[in-house]
Amino acid sequence: MIHRRLLLAALHASTAWACRSTEGAALHAHPAHDHDAGTVERDHRDRHGPPQLDAYVERLRSEERIRELRPTVVATHLELAPDAVVADLGCGPGVFTFALAEAVPRGVVYAVDVEPGQLDLVRETIAATRVRNVVPVLASYADAHLPPGRIDLILIADTYHHIEDREAYFRRLARALVPGGGLAIVEYLPGDLPVGPPADHKVEPAVRAAELSRAGFELAARFDDVHRWHDFEVWRLGGASTRL
Ligand SMILES: C[S@@+](CC[C@H](N)C(=O)[O-])C[C@H]1O[C@@H](n2cnc3c(N)ncnc32)[C@H](O)[C@@H]1O
Repeated sequence: MIHRRLLLAALHASTAWACRSTEGAALHAHPAHDHDAGTVERDHRDRHGPPQLDAYVERLRSEERIRELRPTVVATHLELAPDAVVADLGCGPGVFTFALAEAVPRGVVYAVDVEPGQLDLVRETIAATRVRNVVPVLASYADAHLPPGRIDLILIADTYHHIEDREAYFRRLARALVPGGGLAIVEYLPGDLPVGPPADHKVEPAVRAAELSRAGFELAARFDDVHRWHDFEVWRLGGASTRL
């Protein structure tokens, strides 16, 4: 059983400061990303987001962002079997990872990211809690490095638009899934919003649908009542029915 209090304390470790320091200075604790942050050198491996990891993590963990993204509600909608094997691709500091871990108490969550600093934060939360079903995995840009044919569901939250050469990437990623395995996508709505990346960094939903279809996935479900600023969809490999 996950200790909710410890978990929340760990996830929100930097949030109180973040909220105080941005009070009055910004309308939103996760304002539109400042992707073009001038000459500040990037100290992490994600090619998007604020150039410095600390600021990036602070934004990812902000209370307002978590309130919008609703990781626990997302995990509930996925109706995962308690022993499901899932992956959180582009996990960041683990905003969704630990909600998934709670949903699959007898299963496993692979927390996957290209940035070792993000995985260190996932490890810190593992160490600070009794969570023992999360496995951090260092990905490369082109490959998630997941075990083949093992994963029931891969969640990709606010990360789809970070991935390059997507059709080939998702064909490769499909090999990690069990037959009929699922891909859950949580992604910002298109256009200019008061939160999230600038419009020209996003992938239009129609383009995303075409890419995923060409990679062998079929749309299985849409949840339009969960978020204000995000699409939330589940795609299924080859249309076969399987438990998630
Ligand atoms: C905007 S953050 C989202 C983090 C988390 N999913 C959330 O919603 O809080 C995007 C994350 O994806 C990671 N990322 C970017 N490209 C990736 C790739 N090709 N494979 C795995 N992770 C990637 C980044 O390092 C970053 O941690």
